[in-house]
Amino acid sequence: MLTNAEFLDRAWSESGPKLISGFSRPFFHNLMGILHGYKYDKKSYGGMIRHSEAGMLYCWSRQLPASATIVEIGCYGGLSTSYLAAGCKGKQGCQIYSIDPFNSNLERQAELTDNCVSLDNKPARDLVAERLSQSGFGDIVELIEGYSQDVAAKWSKPIDFLWIDGNHEQALQDFNDFKPWLKKGARVALHDAHPRYGYQEVVRDVAQIFANDDEWCEMEHVKSIITGIYRG
Ligand SMILES: C[S@@+](CC[C@H](N)C(=O)[O-])C[C@H]1O[C@@H](n2cnc3c(N)ncnc32)[C@H](O)[C@@H]1O
Repeated sequence: MLTNAEFLDRAWSESGPKLISGFSRPFFHNLMGILHGYKYDKKSYGGMIRHSEAGMLYCWSRQLPASATIVEIGCYGGLSTSYLAAGCKGKQGCQIYSIDPFNSNLERQAELTDNCVSLDNKPARDLVAERLSQSGFGDIVELIEGYSQDVAAKWSKPIDFLWIDGNHEQALQDFNDFKPWLKKGARVALHDAHPRYGYQEVVRDVAQIFANDDEWCEMEHVKSIITGIYRG
């Protein structure tokens, strides 16, 4: 059994098999990507997740119980949001809260966000809402125009799945802000958490977030996503 630190070392290694949890996960991830990860047009959404990541977001969301709460930090054009929502579709009472400043107050965004997306032509909240509504997700997703840190300060709902893909310089802060609301058994997943195709700051934060083996189980690595289940 790998410790979480050993797991991360292996997930981030340049070479060698990434057989984790006794099953060839990359094969499974690719299969889920092929089956579920091409549904929404990455180009027109301006999305930043790979098909295997999209497929697994769908699967993880699908595994959640009825009335589950998902918090997404970093919606952008709604691509990852759509896969999360597709997984929830048909489950009674599931709700996704997706936080992003969208195209509001671009001067403030230049100060408060990293440079991972261009501020020119950022998708507007209304455009993303319309897109989600056309896919039948209008009632599942609440788009919150703002910043994760401000939303967290007023948050009061237990969380089943926390998906962090916002400001890559504050992943640890985002995690810590929402951690008190994680249910036992909640999934936490971070995007861009791989040294080769992510951000060094997220890699550093992920090592800290998942450092305690007693707190986390079922660690999984999908391309640039690192995820685990919170034991509480
Ligand atoms: C990499 S993009 C998200 C991509 C999206 N998850 C997808 O798969 O298409 C990151 C987004 O997070 C937003 N962002 C940056 N800082 C944020 C914060 N503190 N709270 C919420 N969103 C933030 C950015 O403006 C940008 O739209």
